[in-house]
Amino acid sequence: VDNRQDFKVADLSLAEFGRKEITLAEHEMPGLMAIRKEYAEAQPLAGARVTGSLHMTVQTAVLIETLVALGARVRWASCNIFSTQDHAAAAIAVGPDGTPDNPQGVPVFAWKGETLEEYWWCTEQALTWPDSPTGGPNMILDDGGDATLLVHKGVEYEKDGKAPSPDTAESDEHRVILELLNRTLGENPQKWTQLSSEIRGVTEETTTGVHRLYEMQRDGILLFPAINVNDAVTKSKFDNKYGCRHSLIDGINRATDTLIGGKTAVVCGYGDVGKGCAESLRGQGARVIITEIDPICALQAAMDGYQVTTLDEVVDKADIFVTTTGNKDIIMASDMAKMKHQAIVGNIGHFDNEIDMAGLARIPGIVKDEVKPQVHTWTFPDGKKIIVLSEGRLLNLGNATGHPSFVMSNSFADQTLAQIELFTKPDEYPTGVYVLPKHLDEKVARLHLDALGVKLTTLRPEQAEYIGVQVEGPYKSDHYRY
Ligand code: NAI
Repeated sequence: VDNRQDFKVADLSLAEFGRKEITLAEHEMPGLMAIRKEYAEAQPLAGARVTGSLHMTVQTAVLIETLVALGARVRWASCNIFSTQDHAAAAIAVGPDGTPDNPQGVPVFAWKGETLEEYWWCTEQALTWPDSPTGGPNMILDDGGDATLLVHKGVEYEKDGKAPSPDTAESDEHRVILELLNRTLGENPQKWTQLSSEIRGVTEETTTGVHRLYEMQRDGILLFPAINVNDAVTKSKFDNKYGCRHSLIDGINRATDTLIGGKTAVVCGYGDVGKGCAESLRGQGARVIITEIDPICALQAAMDGYQVTTLDEVVDKADIFVTTTGNKDIIMASDMAKMKHQAIVGNIGHFDNEIDMAGLARIPGIVKDEVKPQVHTWTFPDGKKIIVLSEGRLLNLGNATGHPSFVMSNSFADQTLAQIELFTKPDEYPTGVYVLPKHLDEKVARLHLDALGVKLTTLRPEQAEYIGVQVEGPYKSDHYRY
């Protein structure tokens, strides 16, 4: 790990490879590149200090350099211990004009295969701005809400004057967070309060992080405004669905190279992610079975032609299991004990608590063996093995490289426009959680049409009047569901 300067990545010599892939990705990210052009002169993010906590991939590198092109200064960490692409992180640390001997890029703290301690240290580094008046950022760009969580917990404990003892932690990760906050309380009892005092807002990428934000708003503890980027139509109906349709099977293939055709695959959850996952497995010729708790999504799955049943019914018959719920305790150790020999188990939801990894490790006599990084067999005392991907963390980023550029161009164009909104219009966004205005959502879609050769029909004025919209949009009411 190279830490000569204000960054920490695995290997700076990977920067050239990273730069080549970033250059290829730029062509596949027309939304971000159009935004760079449109705002080049206006520099709407001049003065912004953006802390990002989002998978440090090639696509994210294009996002980071877009924020910089719009005037922002940026510090970055990944939002998952396995998701960093080390060549992308190296290229960002080196920067387009630097060299590995003379890095001139963005302070980035991310490498593939962090420990939990390292992960939270990286998040703290991304949030700590050595030369800012508050010591912190004035904007957060989050994925899953970990950066936002650390700030909120820090401020909460500083109000109390103490943090709970790490001995009271409910999980390993919770213990790491409590240790970190006990340390910072000792070093500077107002660190997080000062650091957060100029934060104008956070833009949140994913379903799980958005869920946390609405809870904080409900409980009256949200410290600054938030834009729920996930529920932009051009995010969740594209990234979650078509992105996972691409990257789920990419992860399974790279991890196992098992033929998916003819196999039985269970997808737990039929939300946006589940829909994309199910479609991709079916596309490979698998027989796909869905589990759901929501009657609407269960009915959708049935109408789409999938069998919908409970995990119990199929746990001993299926070959591949994928969790997509954003909920906890979906596949328990007792379920894995019933699976077939060499069943494949993976999660694509944001956190690793969908699969009961702790319970699996506690089974007496069970043996874990690494096949290769992020692919493990677990052998039960009777000799049966199952294959667990990415230790239960999101497998499309752990075993593959996440979503491809074109779909991320939509999500990250939403992110960039959301950053501009919150940073430049603080008066229009009092503390609360907002979605991106619909005209911006439509703008992001529009920026991606040419690249695909789409010819849009122009509404005639009398037609626009007849359906009650403006010729230039927005074309749908806020309650329209797409
Ligand atoms: P969603 O809310 O649209 O879908 C989740 C579905 O799971 C819902 O339909 C819900 O009814 C169902 N569900 C909840 N508990 C269940 C249970 N016990 N059994 C069966 N089904 C259950 O959420 P979305 O957008 O599909 O996201 C799901 C997760 O994936 C989130 O954690 C999100 O942050 C993450 N995500 C991951 C991505 C990736 O690249 N790996 C990309 C986008 C989202």
